[in-house]
Amino acid sequence: MAYRVMLIENDRLLLEQLAQAVQSAEGFQLVARYQSASDALGQGKLFKPNIILLNIDNQDGATLMEQFTRVYPEAAIICMSEHSQAEGVSSMVQAGAKGFIIKPFSAEELKESVETFAKSGMEVSSHVMTFFSPKGKSGKTTLIANLALALGRRTQEQVGIIDADLQFGDMMAFFNLKPKATIVEAVHEIRYMSPVTLNSYFEKVTDHVHVLCGTSAPNLIDRVSIDGFENVVRMARNLFRYILIDVPPGFTPTSISAAELSDVTYVVTMLNGGYELQHTKRALEIFKDWQDYDKRVKPVFTRVTPCDIASQRRLEQALGEPVEAVIPNAYQIVSEAANNGSMAVDIEPDSELSQSVNRLAEKVIGHHHIRWDKP
Ligand SMILES: Nc1ncnc2c1ncn2[C@@H]1O[C@H](COP(=O)(O)OP(=O)(O)O)[C@@H](O)[C@H]1O
Ligand SMILES: [Mg+2]
Repeated sequence: MAYRVMLIENDRLLLEQLAQAVQSAEGFQLVARYQSASDALGQGKLFKPNIILLNIDNQDGATLMEQFTRVYPEAAIICMSEHSQAEGVSSMVQAGAKGFIIKPFSAEELKESVETFAKSGMEVSSHVMTFFSPKGKSGKTTLIANLALALGRRTQEQVGIIDADLQFGDMMAFFNLKPKATIVEAVHEIRYMSPVTLNSYFEKVTDHVHVLCGTSAPNLIDRVSIDGFENVVRMARNLFRYILIDVPPGFTPTSISAAELSDVTYVVTMLNGGYELQHTKRALEIFKDWQDYDKRVKPVFTRVTPCDIASQRRLEQALGEPVEAVIPNAYQIVSEAANNGSMAVDIEPDSELSQSVNRLAEKVIGHHHIRWDKP
């Protein structure tokens, strides 16, 4: 079935140009075009459009969205603008828009956008998680990679990893990726991007998991602005159901802003028989400034031996608060897997590590039917 497109653009020349792009896009049929939104609202129904391309520049976008979603409840509304503003996009999506595209666009760009929107559904209820560690070598990159795969497999939804460990991000090495673009370019160019262009900066790992890779050279860190980084995360919310952010160890501008943007921050610590527990306690203290701390900050320990409920309770007692997950010592599996560019949850799905990652995935998804006490 061809898409039946209705186009609304105030500028006459631009209307002409966009109409041509729609007509030459394979699988798209231009059924109506209007210079005025009120004409489109009054007369367009006759043509039964299932996609509405709606100009929002110099318009009251919220009111337009309200009117169009009421008159055309079955159509997918895609907003068009000459600029990309991450905040503007989110509010249009919240108002019911299926997508957002920068004009002018080519036939190819239109096709690609609609395919992306159809797949991601422009999720507004994206769940963003930052993995923070008080110090380096916490096992968090390993945890993120495995958890992302587990989430993708279980939910069959889109999962995005953002490697914002700006100086030494190694997500790309974990998955054996050779990225065409990294977070540096994404942050740099975000002002000119739509969610669809941002999508192309993510490297595909599986059908459900995509990674925005970290910088290839530590000295490029200067080129990543916090503002730009925040806009990348905001826009990525339109592409993925789950977003996992890897940040540098300790409190840095990046790790703080990622945590502030996140729904949940996991404070990840690897037990090495040293002062790790004290460091975790001190890091958690700092997060306690947040009013919703209990809901938004959750400690996780890796390399826990034995990895059982008793160890978890002991850690909880020492910390004086709940521990969200304990991950076993799995050095062997983790390093073998990484050498293959694959992850433990895939190659050793029955291992203790995979089981504990899957349990955390279940918690993230919000199903609590997997019980702790194994038979
Ligand atoms: N659960 C684990 N048990 C044992 N070793 C682990 C575990 N997770 C990670 N490692 C090892 O610890 C090192 C650091 O892991 P990584 O995930 O890169 O941590 P971070 O991102 O905090 O630096 C790696 O050598 C990795 O193989
Ligand atoms: Mg790391």
